[in-house]
Amino acid sequence: MDFQASHLRDFSNSILQKAGVPDHEADVITATMIEADARGIHSHGLMRLPIYIERIQKGYILKEAHITVEKEHKGTALIDGHYSAGQVVATKAMDMAIEKAREFGIAAVSVKNSNHFGIAAHYALKAAEKNMIAIVMSNTAPLMPPTGGAEKVLGNNPLAIAAPSDGKNPILLDMALSNVALGKIIFAKNKGVSIPEGWGTDKNGSPTTDPSAVLDGGFVLPVGGPKGFGLAMMVELLTGVLSGGDFSKMIPSMYDTTQKQSISHLMIVIDISTFMEVGTFGRLSSTLGEYVKQAARAPGVEELYLPGEIEFGVEASRMENGIPVSDGVLDELNRLAASLGVQPLSE
Ligand SMILES: NC(=O)c1ccc[n+]([C@@H]2O[C@H](COP(=O)([O-])OP(=O)(O)OC[C@H]3O[C@@H](n4cnc5c(N)ncnc54)[C@H](O)[C@@H]3O)[C@@H](O)[C@H]2O)c1
Repeated sequence: MDFQASHLRDFSNSILQKAGVPDHEADVITATMIEADARGIHSHGLMRLPIYIERIQKGYILKEAHITVEKEHKGTALIDGHYSAGQVVATKAMDMAIEKAREFGIAAVSVKNSNHFGIAAHYALKAAEKNMIAIVMSNTAPLMPPTGGAEKVLGNNPLAIAAPSDGKNPILLDMALSNVALGKIIFAKNKGVSIPEGWGTDKNGSPTTDPSAVLDGGFVLPVGGPKGFGLAMMVELLTGVLSGGDFSKMIPSMYDTTQKQSISHLMIVIDISTFMEVGTFGRLSSTLGEYVKQAARAPGVEELYLPGEIEFGVEASRMENGIPVSDGVLDELNRLAASLGVQPLSE
């Protein structure tokens, strides 16, 4: 069923507020989920609301954020999220990185003791909108074995890089370092469909197309084999290790509802104007984009896309025509609404 973004936003805000989250923080958490659903990244959309609420109710995610700056130098800061909602902590970290980059040309804000922050794109785009380049990363609970290993040690750590362009939208790479995000496997399971080969293995390390087998003790595989694993390791180092937070096997799954998670992020922002005129950069990045768009195409291929372009297109159309919510997710959301005495999502 399709819903207008504003309808979904009101519903999500009501649920979060009923769970005790202050209005302005509910807005921030909701915004990342609606943006994910609108961009076609349902794995990080409203399907995450029930687990966020459960973690808030258990006190693993603070109802009301408490965020402190533990260390601060000119272009850097270390933030302690004290287990506040990841979206609220990451937004504060990105806002701080943008301000520092404006003053010092480049900034890096490291975050510890946060929670799942949703889609990395959300934060990277905040900087691109201000004519800056952003690199955003986070660690997450282990899902992937080392190359040749049979035990998960690293998360499918998300990495986003956004840069402004004179083209219609910023150029935006936003990816999990697994072949696909775990949420896509959860989404497939909820929808009752199989997954393509190469997304994951069962608990013995054997390839599988059954999403339940991956979720039931199996492994998600890194993108690009050892290179993707290496990138995930460096993201872990730049987040959990550099922030002094938890990393690798110290982090329990978000779906283990018996313990807190301590998640780390890193926001790096570069002020383009310290290198060249922002307008010149916009023109040059748009030229780069045109080289890609106008490249010769393989047989049967109708269009070539820039990183982020497909999601921007989906988002534009869904913001106008409505955002689909699958039956499984709708049922779960309405069960959650009933448990909190909130009006169900309906047409
Ligand atoms: N918070 C977390 O712990 C966490 C963990 C993992 C992933 N995530 C999020 O999950 C989301 C999904 O990640 P994913 O790796 O499954 O995304 P994906 O595989 O759908 O896309 C990855 C990137 O490839 C680009 N792309 C895809 N098809 C393309 C094409 N045909 N031509 C050009 N570019 C193309 C996309 O624009 C995107 O930038 C991301 O938003 C990520 O931030 C979050």
